[in-house]
Parts: sequence; C-alpha cells; structure tokens
Amino acid sequence: MIQPNELPSANLILRSPAKRAIIVGASSGIGAALARRLAIEGYSLALLARRADRLAALCQEINARAGEIRAIFYVHNVTDYDSVPGLVQEITSTLGGLDLFIYNSGILFPSGLKHFDFEKDRRMTEVNYLGALAWLNPVAAMFQHLKAGQIVGISSVAGERGRVGNPSYNASKAALSCYLESLRNRLTRSGVHVLTVKPGYVLTDMTSGMKNLYFAISAERAAADICKAIRSRKQVIYTASIWWLVMLVVRNIPSIIFRRLSF
Ligand SMILES: NC(=O)c1ccc[n+]([C@@H]2O[C@H](COP(=O)([O-])OP(=O)(O)OC[C@H]3O[C@@H](n4cnc5c(N)ncnc54)[C@H](OP(=O)(O)O)[C@@H]3O)[C@@H](O)[C@H]2O)c1
Repeated sequence: MIQPNELPSANLILRSPAKRAIIVGASSGIGAALARRLAIEGYSLALLARRADRLAALCQEINARAGEIRAIFYVHNVTDYDSVPGLVQEITSTLGGLDLFIYNSGILFPSGLKHFDFEKDRRMTEVNYLGALAWLNPVAAMFQHLKAGQIVGISSVAGERGRVGNPSYNASKAALSCYLESLRNRLTRSGVHVLTVKPGYVLTDMTSGMKNLYFAISAERAAADICKAIRSRKQVIYTASIWWLVMLVVRNIPSIIFRRLSF
C-alpha cells in the first residue's frame, strides 16, 4: 500500500492550490471513473476501498498521465467505522484541506422473490448506509464549521420505491437518499453543497451478468454527468437523465398496481 509519508514529494504536490477530494469506493466502476475525471479536472485525490491492487493501479495510471502525484490511496473497509474520524483528519491534513467528498461505496446481492437472508441484508445496510453515516457525519461537521465544501452521495433509483426484487438494497438506498436530503437542508445555510446522485443501470462489476439493463450507460458517462452536476451545484440528479421521467411515473403508480408488478 502506498502511504502518503512514503512519497517524499507527495505532500508538496498535493498541497498545491488545486481542489482536493476524497472518494470512498474508488477501486472500480463509477468511483474509479470519477477519480479519472476529477484528476483531469485538476483535483488532488485520496482514493479509498478494500482492493489495494486496484487502487494502486488506478493511482499509478492517474499520476503517470498527470506527470505528478495527483492521487494517493488508503485501503479501507467502510464497516471499520471507528477508524473514520482519524482517517478524515489524516487525509485532510495530507491533502492540505478538503473541497469535495464523495461516498460511492455500495454492494448489491442478487435476491430471489422467496429469498430472505439477514446476513446479506445486514452487509448491504452496513456498506450502503451505515458506512455512509460514519463518513458523512465528520465531513459534514468539518464543512459546516468551514462554511464551505461539497458532498456527493451515490444513491440509486432503487431507493425511490420498495420493489419486490431486493427489499434491503432498496431500503438502504432510500435511507441514504433521505439522509442526504436532511444533510442538504441542514448544511445549505452554511454554504455547503450536497448532491444526491440516483443512477439507473450502469455497466460495472455490480451489474455484470444482469439481464434487462434498460437505458444502461457506462461508468464514464455516469461520472461525466456527476462532475457536471458538481460544477453546477445541482441538488439531485438522475444518470442517465431519462430516469428522471421513468421515476416520475414509477413514484406515482398506486400501490394497488405497483405491488402486482414484477420489477
Ligand atoms: N451499477 C449500477 O447499475 C448502479 C445503479 C445505481 C446505483 N449504483 C451505486 O453506485 C455505486 C458504485 O457502484 P458501481 O456500479 O460502480 O459498482 P462497483 O464497481 O462494484 O463499485 C463498488 C465500489 O464500492 C466499494 N466497496 C464495496 N464494499 C466496500 C467496503 N466494505 N468498504 C469500502 N468500499 C467498498 C468497492 O471497492 P472494494 O470492493 O475494493 O472495497 C468499489 O469501489 C454503489 O453505491 C452502487 O450502489 C450502481
């Protein structure tokens, strides 16, 4: 694992006037695409996830392209809640401050209609929601104090209704979306921007092997939409944008019909 203190020149470069961002869940898919794009936009990055090999390769790619150290990584499991406050302090100090925080970590276990499994439900809740709280609380407190900063949470269209397919994944994303809305309402008066991202289907490891991926987009396309929304300080976005219309319809289907649908 590359540690910032093993890179003598890293602090100097990372403390340049460029904007600084943390991405939690950056080793693949949307998180890795966001890292590549934000690096091109000039951000200094701290990238976190469990897979050290993926993170090391991504940092190497980003730094080689930039010709300087733009990205460092920390191996982290978001269920290691107690380590988060110390990491926030350590990373912020290494980057020389923090402008943008992205919580992207998420897991989805496929589930059948007669499948009820507390262990899988607990793991999805921990990664998709409790890990988000562990990170977002200290970051929100810091940004509120500074009266500046941007927070992005990667939720899902899955959080908009309780569908038959995967109740606890839906519920974890509903909880995250609701928490992010509260955070936005609390922090907006301090000048802190909170963006909720609701992707539809994105072609990543998470959806690999799944069928009927309507309106599916690449991780790069999702990352481009998210970065545009960060720049224009949008509150909530759907990616692809067609999901705004789809979910407008889905949200308004009466329960008496919705509970008979098979999606
Ligand atoms: N793909 C879609 O269609 C879709 C749709 C709606 C929403 N989303 C959401 O988008 C986000 C990114 O998903 P993706 O599609 O890009 O899938 P992905 O490629 O599987 O990425 C998931 C990321 O979460 C990280 N992660 C998982 N468990 C973790 C843990 N315990 N600790 C730390 N990090 C952890 C993974 O890193 P490690 O495994 O290395 O730890 C990886 O970086 C997720 O929140 C997902 O729910 C995806």
